Amino acid sequence: MTNAPVRCKAVVLISGSGSNLQAFIDQVNAGLLPLDIALVISNKADAFGLERAARAGIKTQVIDHKAYASRDHFDHALQQAIDTVSPDLVILAGFMRILTADFVNHYRDRLINIHPSLLPKYPGTNTHQRALDAGDAWHGASIHFVVPEVDAGPIILQGRLKIRSDDSADSLQQRIHKIEHQLYPLAARWFAEQRLSHKNGKVLLDGETSDQQLQTFDL
Ligand code: GAR
Repeated sequence: MTNAPVRCKAVVLISGSGSNLQAFIDQVNAGLLPLDIALVISNKADAFGLERAARAGIKTQVIDHKAYASRDHFDHALQQAIDTVSPDLVILAGFMRILTADFVNHYRDRLINIHPSLLPKYPGTNTHQRALDAGDAWHGASIHFVVPEVDAGPIILQGRLKIRSDDSADSLQQRIHKIEHQLYPLAARWFAEQRLSHKNGKVLLDGETSDQQLQTFDL
């Protein structure tokens, strides 16, 4: 008798469109990603990602940060909701809230984020315009383990593309999304397959640094 492969149970946190969530759903449905998305939580009731999750038959919950007196109270409610399903992995997919150190430490080594820049460049918001304003040759997205410092933490995977002379923040955002939709499920797959570790702030794939961790796209 063969045992079914162990699947990784995940909770996905969103605030908006959820196109990255959709990329996870599509890859799970295609049998390419051994993830069980047990719950999708949004801090915004009108996030389109909630509809994407519901369509895929995934349980959803709204926890509106405005209903809580402080960041601590909100994060506590969030943590309680997440822990009802005891996830192996918590995925921030366009979740636009800063998280407390207590929350982050509770999910240490099982909390990942995607950020639309080549970190450590441009933590925070407005990343596409900042890359343009700086005259950068390259721009991209980074997937990283979350630490209490915002948009920091060991980097799992980055994807980059060349900025074109006619790029705008919008055109960059569209192309960066294409990178995100390929790389975020890949990073989750590596996590689910238990291929990731980290040492001295560097993420290792199968115990080594790998050139797969910076991918160049011609988009
Ligand atoms: C993504 O581009 C992601 O990198 C960004 O929000 C977008 C969400 O899109 N995340 C951050 O800026 C986090 N600091 P989506 O809702 O369509 O997946």
